[in-house]
Amino acid sequence: MHKIAVLGGDGTGPEVVDEALKVLQAASAACGFRYETTPFDFGGDRYLRTGEVLPDSATSDLRGFDAILLGAIGHPDVKPGILEKGILLRLRFELDLYINLRPVKLYPGVETPLAGKGPEHIDFVVVRENTEGLYAGAGGSLRRGTPHEVAVQESINTRMGVERCLRYAFDYTRKRARGRTLTLCGKTNVLTYAFDLWERAFHEIGEAYYKDIKRDYAHVDATCMWMVKNPEWFDVIVTDNMFGDIITDLGAMIQGGMGIAAGGNIHPGKVSMFEPIGGSAPKYTGQGVINPMAAIAAAQMMLAELGETAAADRIERAIAYVAAEKLESMNAGKMGYSTSQVGDLVADAVATGR
Ligand code: IPM
Ligand code: MN
Repeated sequence: MHKIAVLGGDGTGPEVVDEALKVLQAASAACGFRYETTPFDFGGDRYLRTGEVLPDSATSDLRGFDAILLGAIGHPDVKPGILEKGILLRLRFELDLYINLRPVKLYPGVETPLAGKGPEHIDFVVVRENTEGLYAGAGGSLRRGTPHEVAVQESINTRMGVERCLRYAFDYTRKRARGRTLTLCGKTNVLTYAFDLWERAFHEIGEAYYKDIKRDYAHVDATCMWMVKNPEWFDVIVTDNMFGDIITDLGAMIQGGMGIAAGGNIHPGKVSMFEPIGGSAPKYTGQGVINPMAAIAAAQMMLAELGETAAADRIERAIAYVAAEKLESMNAGKMGYSTSQVGDLVADAVATGR
């Protein structure tokens, strides 16, 4: 029995999560695994009502679950940063979700802005470190608001943090069928302390434990260039928190947009959190026009992490089928179907095993 915490969150989050749960239900009926869901109301509305961003009990409560399915965090009436830091980042840190796994895969029939590129070119995964780097919050400011203001924001890179991320990335590369290449994305020519650590750890670990995996390196700026020009060069990319944040938005665009892009905040063997990466899209809230595919893909990643491989594969096939055969576009309002109709289509495809 998988115990799943459901955090619908803000904006369109609850709508897309409902569709993901519909598909989960269909997968459970088809594949025979059992699960139970428990909703949590964390998000902007709760904060505006109670003044509390996240109750202190939240992380210990969530540790009692096998996985978390998250809709979106971000509310138009709450100052930017409060909910993002107070909920999303806090959960990543306190639950020590040290991997942010973001597949960049173009399904057949989905439009990419890259001319001349198709599904055979766009199929890689970004492994983003998720608990350190510039996100650690180290730094401070002096003489704030004066002409002599100083602001320092430091990137924290620990050997332990870098190493566990690299090991995950090497293991992940080994499991994939593709090119068996792991690319370290960094900036060794400028960030000579941080990426010196990354680069040494990368080669030491690779040499000692993963001789079967080809190691490659690309600066982050060049990575952006290649992602647009030759995305087929990539199999698995491993990078730090900030670079990973940036290149995965680029990745989401080349795989067809925020309507399809999903990610997992993972601590292997512990409770992990899965989310569509598109945000709360407040302007579409309640209209039934948002694309739930990304949330459905997040549920698929969740099942894969829970070891329900057959169910995860079945959902992935259903996503690919509905994307190719049914939807006119991945973009909100242009799918040719409503949010819940898309959920129905995928759930049906899961039920019939398409
Ligand atoms: C993401 C988001 C978050 C991040 C924000 C909302 C804090 O952009 O999940 O990529 O920067 O990690
Ligand atoms: Mn981001």
